[in-house]
Amino acid sequence: MSRSILITGANGALGLAIAEFFLTREESCHVFLGVRERRERAQELAARFSSRTHLVTLEVTSTDDWKAAVTEIENKGAPLGVLINNAGFHEDALLANMPQDQWSRVLDANLNAVFHGCQAVLPGMLRERQGRIVNIASLSAISSPAGQTNYAAAKAGVIGLTQSLAKESARMGITVNAVCPGYIEGGLPSDWPPEQLKALKMQLPMRRFARPEEIAAAVFFLASPDASYITGSTLKIDGGLL
Ligand SMILES: NC(=O)c1ccc[n+]([C@@H]2O[C@H](COP(=O)([O-])OP(=O)(O)OC[C@H]3O[C@@H](n4cnc5c(N)ncnc54)[C@H](OP(=O)(O)O)[C@@H]3O)[C@@H](O)[C@H]2O)c1
Repeated sequence: MSRSILITGANGALGLAIAEFFLTREESCHVFLGVRERRERAQELAARFSSRTHLVTLEVTSTDDWKAAVTEIENKGAPLGVLINNAGFHEDALLANMPQDQWSRVLDANLNAVFHGCQAVLPGMLRERQGRIVNIASLSAISSPAGQTNYAAAKAGVIGLTQSLAKESARMGITVNAVCPGYIEGGLPSDWPPEQLKALKMQLPMRRFARPEEIAAAVFFLASPDASYITGSTLKIDGGLL
């Protein structure tokens, strides 16, 4: 049966990789790419899979945007079967120097948005008695580096939300899981000198960063029928770093 997949932050590197993975591995699915101002890369992907890919405006901190996006998807036909809460960013500073709005921005986009997203899609999934939610957390939730109190707290909150919601929705056929990527290719600031990148890779057991599609593969599996007994889990994908 055809199902609809909604991926937030889908103009970003990981969102695009997840979208492409679904589009190439599940030929009947329709993928909705959540975007806000920047959308060029999502548009390119949508052009390649034009009959099954749609852009949807979605600022993830806005409950109005969530309501409109879910209505738009449901009106297109196939039930919204999968939500990938992928949008997010970090804005680092030592806590002693962190302005309140920097704390709040990061909590809003990385944690509160996951609450809004789950709340927006649950009525439809409960109606259908099935659904898959995959939340993109981060290794920073488990092993929190200095300078990321806001991001680490938000992503740790995502893991807590995931476990609790999984228990609330398990008997309704809905699974909720989280993944914690470590370093991803292209995920570090572009002005990092090559020697610095090389030195960092030498500290990793695999001596390399993850390719985005290696994270996408795990997300795809957690959203698949094969993962029907996996819920409330947190999967770290870090090449053995922790
Ligand atoms: N890259 C890594 O190494 C890494 C590691 C661990 C976890 N993660 C997590 O993986 C996810 C994807 O990251 P990425 O590497 O793909 O980063 P990215 O390339 O910067 O993409 C992030 C996407 O999220 C969107 N976004 C941010 N805030 C938003 C908001 N309030 N409303 C709607 N969209 C918003 C951005 O939209 P705009 O383009 O409009 O700004 C962008 O499309 C994030 O949750 C991140 O925390 C990344």
